[in-house]
Amino acid sequence: MRMLVTGGAGFIGANFVHHAVKNYPAYEVCVLDALTYAGSRDSLAPVAEGVRFVHGDICDAELVDRLVAEADVVVHFAAESHVDNSLHDPEPFIRTNIIGTYTILEAVRHHDRRLHHISTDEVFGDLALDAVDRFTEQTPYDPSSPYSAAKASSDMLVRAWVRSFGVVATLSNCANNYGPYQHVEKFVPRQITNVLVGERPKLYGAGENVREWTHVDDHNEAVHLILAKGRAGETYLIGSGDERNNKEILELVLELMGQPTNAFDHVSDRPGHDLRYSNDSTKIRTELGWEPRYGDFRAGLAATIDWYRHNEWWWKPQKDATEAKYKLLGR
Ligand code: NAD
Ligand code: DAU
Repeated sequence: MRMLVTGGAGFIGANFVHHAVKNYPAYEVCVLDALTYAGSRDSLAPVAEGVRFVHGDICDAELVDRLVAEADVVVHFAAESHVDNSLHDPEPFIRTNIIGTYTILEAVRHHDRRLHHISTDEVFGDLALDAVDRFTEQTPYDPSSPYSAAKASSDMLVRAWVRSFGVVATLSNCANNYGPYQHVEKFVPRQITNVLVGERPKLYGAGENVREWTHVDDHNEAVHLILAKGRAGETYLIGSGDERNNKEILELVLELMGQPTNAFDHVSDRPGHDLRYSNDSTKIRTELGWEPRYGDFRAGLAATIDWYRHNEWWWKPQKDATEAKYKLLGR
């Protein structure tokens, strides 16, 4: 089985490639990645020998067409992924997330290849803080940010190509991921690395916003299950069920790192900040038998902290530029 992985030098994509090489040796993996600020070949260093790497853009139709022709299945992770960046400069989000997905869809259509499209729970908008309801596969789309609007657009394109052109594709919408190799712009690694460099962690607003935290390996195992057993044209929601607000997470990071739990700064809130995300993942659990293995978030977070502690060579080059961007935004 020849697999083309777009965005395989990013956080989830790189962990997916590690996971595939370790657990699914039958796959021949080719990574296509533009190596934006968010991508790093270093993230693939442990598996470099077993993986072909192509440095290129998913909007390059000729390149994408050639690589798709050489693959049996395409797993599409590549995206601009950070909400704060999308509020500052939406253009790359429109280009990569929408035009890039369109380019891949045209190639899989012409070569009759299987596609799995990676999406996010953010396409559904948000839920009230005091509610107990959850997103389901039937929840109408209601994105809030340029990031989530561009991801919602890409999902719509995939669904249209399935219906109108008979493209064989599956979609998944996962909740927030955590784990190794996540860029330090994101909440969990930003706070861990702030502590490691002697900076105070930063909490947006009051920190009441709730996210559902899923370990990246659990997300990727779900993707493998969908590739193996998912039904064409179907969407699967993925989430651990472990919901926590940002303040709780930050206090836990500080506790696990031996700091006072109030040693952080409140900074200005994200405009349009989504309140709560929560996925009902009954479908993937009952139809495909998926279960998260990282049931204990505290242990998963402690292991993630440990990874950042021991891999400064990986994250240090990103840190100053990332904090300089946040400084401009006042956060
Ligand atoms: P990331 O920002 O860490 O990585 C994105 C990767 O895509 C990078 O390697 C980057 O170089 C590459 N890329 C960007 N533009 C490209 C282009 N035009 N052509 C080729 N490559 C390009 O993102 P991530 O957090 O790993 O997210 C991966 C996917 O998972 C995204 O589609 C995202 O929407 C989705 N997702 C993320 C989360 C999360 O918590 N991080 C949760 C659910 C879904
Ligand atoms: O739900 C899935 C989504 O999760 C993915 O689609 C996105 O690609 C991914 O970035 C993530 O989006 P969020 O906006 O939820 O993640 P982020 O890590 O940026 O922020 C998590 C929460 O923490 C959010 O409520 C904002 C808050 N936050 C973030 C940062 C960077 C802070 O309080 N302080 C911070 O410094």
